[in-house]
This record gives sequence, structure tokens and C-alpha cells, in this order.
Amino acid sequence: GQYYLTLAIESSCDETSAAVLKDGREVLSNIISTQVEEHKKFGGVVPEVASRKHVENINMVIDEALEKANVTLDNIDHIGVTYGPGLVGALLVGLSTAKAMAYALDMPLVGVNHIEGHICANYIEHKDLKPPFMCLIVSGGHTHLAHVKDYGVYEMLGRTRDDAVGEAFDKVARAMGLGYPGGPIIDKLAKTGNCEAIKFPRVYLENGSYDFSLSGLKSAVLNYLNSQRQKGIEIVEEDVAASFQRAVLDVLVKKAIDGAVEKKLDTIVIAGGVAANSGLRHMLKEEGKKHNIKVLYPPLELCTDNAAMIGCAAYYNYKAGKISNMYLNAVPGLKL
Ligand code: KG4
Ligand code: ZN
Repeated sequence: GQYYLTLAIESSCDETSAAVLKDGREVLSNIISTQVEEHKKFGGVVPEVASRKHVENINMVIDEALEKANVTLDNIDHIGVTYGPGLVGALLVGLSTAKAMAYALDMPLVGVNHIEGHICANYIEHKDLKPPFMCLIVSGGHTHLAHVKDYGVYEMLGRTRDDAVGEAFDKVARAMGLGYPGGPIIDKLAKTGNCEAIKFPRVYLENGSYDFSLSGLKSAVLNYLNSQRQKGIEIVEEDVAASFQRAVLDVLVKKAIDGAVEKKLDTIVIAGGVAANSGLRHMLKEEGKKHNIKVLYPPLELCTDNAAMIGCAAYYNYKAGKISNMYLNAVPGLKL
């Protein structure tokens, strides 16, 4: 046809999603079936349950994506699918489906790195965005600071040495008895709390390092909660949330800005589930202004897991000739 149509599938964690995109950046449909309610009662994602739910939902989600985009499989030019990182059983559901379809329809199969997908969510929203730029990737499983030099070309400046940012939010929320996923709940509470109420540590690591470490902060919050409880002092949830969030953001924002300044980049892009955090969006934007750095992030619905972002990444892989074969396997620990 006149343009490329991508069918994309995402099933790396607890969202079953399929999308259809035109020329990589225009979303014709993006259907997301979330399992959050299913996992809530366990306080986190249960891998076995996730796989089973993906199997139940995947065909329906794909049909819906095609229908909403008003296209048939004959119109599709290639199939993009997440092959890692993620839960192996969950990944295999989307991957097997994509492989079966690509084989039956004799269509190119394009494997996508989920983290790369999160970055690409920004290409969908910001039509003029082009590399190079600095990217802060903050999700439930990943924390990276990457210099995006070109489409699909990354220079990794730093990564977390222990907990991912989203993971720290979820664990702190859990310790406070706030439910799952904790990120959005802490974000909301933090808005009315005093971020200077409790002194939590900021861990910057060695001078000049762009790596992150969050386990010390997490322990400090847990210790604080325990000691208050032991002393019988009432815990002000809003203040704990605000103080914890601020401690995380101070470090994230400083390193992202330092990285952009060092690499002489005028744009910082935020990606991943924690890009939904209102405090992070606001603080990085304000700090960016002081350095003449533009700060961009995806709309909320493209921050958390979805197939549209995978489709965008698949399009750029496809254009670069990065096409997979039928031996493509799930890689739970896939790196960027
Ligand atoms: O990217 P994502 O959907 O899944 C992964 O690929 O990991 O990210 C999910 C993470 C969860 O840890 C969740 O708590 C966090 O993103 N999150 C937030 C917010 N919304 C989602 N964290 C902080 N503030 C938010 N508003
Ligand atoms: Zn994700």
C-alpha cells in the first residue's frame, strides 16, 4: 500500500494489548486488557495467573484492535511483538501468537525490546521528536538513563544497581498498606503531604556516576514506619509519601539534567510507568527550564504497558532491517 501498517502485540507483564499503527507513529487502535484487579488480591503480579489471563484474552484483544482500526489481516505489513524483558510465561503467549500469525500469513515478524517500546511511546505523542535526546526510563522493572543517539541506537549512561524506581514505589506503598500498584497511590497522597517532613537519604553514588541505588531509601522508609509504629506515633501517610517521592525525584532529576548537560542535548524524554508521576513531570520540567532543556513525556495511557509503543518500535526496527525469524525466543532478562 501507500503506507506501512503494523500490528503489534504486548504481553510482558500484566497487560494484554494489541495495536495497529500507520507509518509507525499514528495509532489506529490500541486495545489494552489489564489484569490489575486479578493481581490486586495478591499484592503484586502472580506470573502463573498472568500467563493464563493472557491466553484467555489475546485473541479477543487482537480482533478488537483490527476491528477498531478498520483493517483486516490482509492489510497488515508486519507484526511486532515484545520478546523481553518480562515474565517468561507471559512473554511466550504474545510471542507464540505473533509467530503463528506471521508464519500462517507469511508476514515479517519483528521482535521488540519492551524498554525500547517505552521510549518510543514518546514518538507517538510528539510528532516532531527525533534523536538525539536524553531518556530517563523509569518503570516497574527498569531504571535507566540513556543517550538516544539515533532510532534504535543507545548509549547507556546509567542504570539502577538494585531496585527499579517503580518497584521502590510499590514496595513502600505495600509497607504502608496502601495497595497495588503503589506508584499512583503515593503520587496522589504526595500532593497534599509535606515533602520536608521526614529526612530520607538521597543516594547519588560516586561523583560523576549516572547509576542509581534505591534500596537504601526503601529501607529508610521501612525503618521509619516500623519505629513510628513501635513508639505508637501516628503515621501521616501524606507526609511519608511526599518525603519519599521527593527523595527519589531529587536524584532522578539531578542525574537526568547532568546527563543532558554533559552530552549537550536540548531535550529530555521520560519513559515507562513512572513517567506518569505528576511530581516527576513537574519537577523535571521546571529544572529543565533553568537549563534551556525541553522535557517531554507520553500521555498517561501511553506511559504504562501498551502495544502501540511496541508497534512504533517495531516500525523503526523494520525500517532498519532488524527483522526476526521463527527462532525468536522470549528473553526474560533482555537488556537495552
Ligand atoms: O512500565 P510499567 O507499566 O511496567 C513495567 O514495564 O515495569 O510500569 C509500572 C510501574 C509500577 O511500579 C507502578 O507503580 C508505576 O509504574 N507507576 C507510577 C505511577 N503510575 C504507575 N509510579 C509513580 N507514580 C505514578 N503516577
Ligand atoms: Zn513496561
